[in-house]
Order: sequence, then structure tokens, then C-alpha cells
Amino acid sequence: MAWCATIPLPVTVQAEWVLMMNVLVTGNLPDDVLAPVARTHTVTVHRHDRPMPYEAIRAGIGDIHGLLCMITDRVDQALLDQAPQLKIVANFGVGYNNIDVSAATARDILVTNTPGVLTDATADVALALILAVGRRVVQGDGYTRRGDFQYWAPFHFLGSEITGKTLGLVGMGRIGAAVAKRAAGFDMSVVYHNRRRLSPEREHALGVRYADMDTLLAQSDFVSLHVPLTGETHHLIAAEQLAMMKPNAYLINTARGPVVDEAALVSALKSGAIAGAGLDVYENEPTLADGLVELDNVVLLPHVGSATEETRRAMGTIAVENLMAGLQGDTPPNCVNVAKG
Ligand code: DGY
Repeated sequence: MAWCATIPLPVTVQAEWVLMMNVLVTGNLPDDVLAPVARTHTVTVHRHDRPMPYEAIRAGIGDIHGLLCMITDRVDQALLDQAPQLKIVANFGVGYNNIDVSAATARDILVTNTPGVLTDATADVALALILAVGRRVVQGDGYTRRGDFQYWAPFHFLGSEITGKTLGLVGMGRIGAAVAKRAAGFDMSVVYHNRRRLSPEREHALGVRYADMDTLLAQSDFVSLHVPLTGETHHLIAAEQLAMMKPNAYLINTARGPVVDEAALVSALKSGAIAGAGLDVYENEPTLADGLVELDNVVLLPHVGSATEETRRAMGTIAVENLMAGLQGDTPPNCVNVAKG
């Protein structure tokens, strides 16, 4: 397979009773993270940081039993049709909107993700974006580097206070809850909207109060998104919702780009309908909506919510555990579908 390398099998640890299968890893994961699966199976790894082209995956999937794929890989019906041996698709990520789960289920293929381990890293980035856009950190850095910092002035380079402000969390799963905990350290008042309301005990423990979506949008100084991308959440934040936000409010997105209508966001940012945005994800990654980079009231990150050494290694370890369980016919720990058989 072009661009790929096969990890040599350490013969000393080969277990004879294991049925050797073929595994394709589409991302550049370290050898030691892949070692448990390489001990017992033939593992081919895409040794580049640029995503493995869809056509290359499709061309090589025919004799693959286990696919460890990245969130940038589209695993659709056409690809699964070329994969008669495939038993499991282990996604390297918690979001799995890149995979056609129904098509996999219909073919008896397990699908897994990596929940839990990236909660804190992603919540940290949401907070980083709140602070960066609210206090104009990136803008100030550029200003200082360019040599524009010539004097201090009392009403110069003002941002928004963070402490005591209202944070609206859209989605209250693991990551939403982790952001709420961090916001408590800033004495923020936290409202949330979620498909299912939390128990009163959990609301109390997190110090959050429930609101319907319109109320959340109207009251919040910072709106932070923590929902998975589904048919229901696609363009959850569009022109209508942006118009409901306060003109001094900020939108933070560390979830998935298509949850926001990015063209509508650019218009709202240009017209001053909202004050700014902190984004880690984009509607058509890695392409940005027209006009976004020209704006100075945005902070733009390259989808790095989970990008810490510790978290990415933990994600790899979990993906490998899921993969190995699926290959040996067990139900993997983080299975998001139930194979028919
Ligand atoms: C995920 O796991 O879904 C993240 O977006 C990857 O950083």
C-alpha cells in the first residue's frame, strides 16, 4: 500500500493461538502505542501526517479485518462495500460523524470511539478560547510583536471581563460538565441546554441551571458548544440563533464545525451582531469560510482540542484496545453500535 509501512512483528512475543489478522492504521501513531496489536496482527500504518487519501484506503481495504481510522477519514458505504473482511472500525476520536454507522451495522461491522480521555484537554481549550477571545490575547500578541505597543493608555485594548459573566453551555455531556467545573473557578454563572435535563443533584453539584435554547442564547455572555454532530445539531447555530445572542457575546466552538453555519457566523461577526468567536473546528475543515481570517474579533485554532501528548497517547491506547477486542470477537469497551450477528 503506497505511503504505508508494516510494523515488523516482534517474533518473541507472538502468541501462537491468536489468529493473525490484517489491520490498517490510517494515522501516524507511535509504534509503542500500536505495539499491543502489532504483536499479534499484521499492522500497516500510514506514516504521514497528511490524511491517507480516501481512494488509497478504499483500494487497500479488501483484505483488512480491523481499521483504526482518523476523524478525517470518511468511512462510508462505498468504502465498506470494498471491505468484505472488515470486523471493526476503531475511530481515533470521540466524535464519529465521519463514519456511516448504520452502513457498518448493516454489514455486521463494529464501530468504536475514544470517549472520556479527551474530556479535560478539550475543556481546557474551550476555556483557553474564552480567555483568548474575551481578553484579546492573540490580537495583543500580534500588536506587541509588530512593535505597535508604544504607550500604555487607560482605555486602550479593552476586552471583556470573564469573571462573573454568564456562560451558556450547549450540550452537557462529559466535556460540557468539565467546562462548567472550570467556569466555577471564574465565578461564572453557568446555564446549559441539553437534550436531557440533568438530575437536580447533578445540576447542584455542577452549579448549573437549565434553560431552553432561546433563553440561553439571549442571556449568555459566552456561548460554548459541546454537542456531537448529528442530523439534529447540523447548523444548530445559524443566523436566527446568532441574532438572539447579545451584541457583546462571544461564540466558542470546540465541538464540530458544521454545528455552526459558518457563513452566517462571519456575517454576524462583521455586522457586530456578536462581539467575537473562538473556534477550534470549522464547517469544511481545513477550509475556512470566506472572510473569517480577515476578522480580528476571532481566535482560530487548527482543531487541537485533544492535542496534548498525554491525551493523544491515551486515545491511541483506547482505540487499540477497542480494535483488539473487536478482532477477537469480543464486544469492545467503547462500541457505539451493535453488530447484527
Ligand atoms: C474528537 O475526538 O472527536 C476530537 O475532535 C479529536 O480532537
